[in-house]
Amino acid sequence: MEQVATMIPSPPVDITRSPGDDSGMSDETADSTRSFRLVGLPGDGIGPEVYASALQVLAVLQERYALRIELDEQLIGGAAVDAMGEPLPQQTIDACRNADAALLGAVGGPQWDGNPAEQRPELGLLKIRAEFSLFCNLRPIVTHPALHSFSPIRAERLRDVDLMIVRELTGGSYFGKKWRDADQAEDVCRYTRPEVERVTRAAARIAQQRQGRITLVDKANVLETSRLWREVAHRVIGEEFPDVSVENMYVDAASMHLLTRPADFDVLLTENLFGDILSDEASMLCGSLGLLPSASLNEDRFGLYEPVHGSAPDIAGQGIANPYAMLLSVAKIMRNS
Ligand code: IPM
Ligand code: MN
Repeated sequence: MEQVATMIPSPPVDITRSPGDDSGMSDETADSTRSFRLVGLPGDGIGPEVYASALQVLAVLQERYALRIELDEQLIGGAAVDAMGEPLPQQTIDACRNADAALLGAVGGPQWDGNPAEQRPELGLLKIRAEFSLFCNLRPIVTHPALHSFSPIRAERLRDVDLMIVRELTGGSYFGKKWRDADQAEDVCRYTRPEVERVTRAAARIAQQRQGRITLVDKANVLETSRLWREVAHRVIGEEFPDVSVENMYVDAASMHLLTRPADFDVLLTENLFGDILSDEASMLCGSLGLLPSASLNEDRFGLYEPVHGSAPDIAGQGIANPYAMLLSVAKIMRNS
């Protein structure tokens, strides 16, 4: 595929002029235009539909806030497999390397389910996480009173729910050694001390901007990796973040408390697989998985932003996908990148 480097249309009005100023654009205000490089990854299923809505919002932001957004659209997931035979082409990686952020629609669909592992759409997502060390995945869960009735949980439990799930995104069983033969299979869950330290620091900095409370979710009564997490996370927080508190919770109990007393959580910090599962569960507090944005960040301020909902092949192409999660992901780009 040819590289499409587009510019979102520039503003039809001169937004650098302040009211009552009829001297036109000064050099100073022209310099104040902030430039931002974004890679657009529409992906599969409803991805391109919600992505189109994001472009509309980005065009307005550019017009209103003296932003110059350079958009470079690239392939990922099933769309990339169909066009180039792999879910994360080198061209997409190169484009991200030159960008401040990437905005992803969704990947996956039943037409690729039978593909060999190397040509599955989801691998594109896993590879971009690994390639850019996007270790810190933020999934904010905030309930809105207008949507309480869409949640299977009683409204009185949803009041004041405002929690941030910090999911480690580049380690654990997702990325450990894998193998299988006809009778056995193995997915190794491995974590190193530096991996736990950096995500703990990220979570603690977020907690400092919030209520200063971290719940560390693990299975330390069974798993050795969880015992490492506890030791490292407690040390980092104790030594470096005296204003942040940390409590431990087993993942099975956390899955229950998320439904019975969700408003008690502030920052929930956990490893990759537990975070995957708990964030889908927690999405039900908001009324729908379709309403959640996410940000995956590394240490260099590059971020991948995407709705949590996935490609929803059952409703793709009908023009009925709700772009809310995608628009919140745009909002997160503006905040974090
Ligand atoms: C998510 C998704 C991915 C994950 C899949 C598509 C690989 O479920 O972002 O939560 O498991 O991380
Ligand atoms: Mn998931």
